[in-house]
Amino acid sequence: MRKPIIIVNFKAYEKASGKHAVELAKIHEKVAEKTGVSFAIAVQPIDLRMVVAAVKIPVLAQHFDPIHYGAHTGHLSPHVLKDAGAVGSLLNHAEKKVSIEVIRASVQEAHEIGFMVVLCADTVQAGKDIAMFDPDFVAVEPPELIGGDVSVVDANPKIITDAVEMIGNGKVLVGAGIKTGRDVLMSLELGASGVLLASGVAKSSNPEEVLMDLAQGVLDFQAGKKS
Ligand code: G3P
Repeated sequence: MRKPIIIVNFKAYEKASGKHAVELAKIHEKVAEKTGVSFAIAVQPIDLRMVVAAVKIPVLAQHFDPIHYGAHTGHLSPHVLKDAGAVGSLLNHAEKKVSIEVIRASVQEAHEIGFMVVLCADTVQAGKDIAMFDPDFVAVEPPELIGGDVSVVDANPKIITDAVEMIGNGKVLVGAGIKTGRDVLMSLELGASGVLLASGVAKSSNPEEVLMDLAQGVLDFQAGKKS
């Protein structure tokens, strides 16, 4: 996935599920093509194959388990997800947390097959702790700001600079309350390699407008504009 990256997590929002997931994915693709900005989406497993067939932008899963093929009823194998067209997955999202041991085993299983992992962390310290497993990205998201109206960049910009310092340049995504191009621009100015967001797009009545604004944040950053 090309950096800076904007990853939109569809969660289980109604407007981002089933046929709406396909429609929303196509809007992401349209904005990606129009602006040249790098977008990826994280969809539910039930919608994955259908979405992958409809768009060319990278599609991620939202969670997977540290398993191969085999007798694993109800589990999500990275092998199966990859076969369905996912380029990788989120893991340890605040809404789907797993133990450190599961994170270790999952990243290992994923990397054996070239399946990308975006590990989520509640705090910078937690992000640093799991960064030792060498995920592709660590997304730091303060849980109290998730789904809210105040973005992490306004509430606590230091989280981003601290995360980049402790986790490493080129690895850090930031999320929680991100909704505008200004949020994106500020995140990138503070050293993030991209953003992870959900409700700002998935609950919007005009997702194309929101996505165009988010993309503008990347374009402004690349043009050297200041927030
Ligand atoms: O996975 C992204 C997410 O947790 C942030 O959600 O709604 O605050 O953009 P939201």
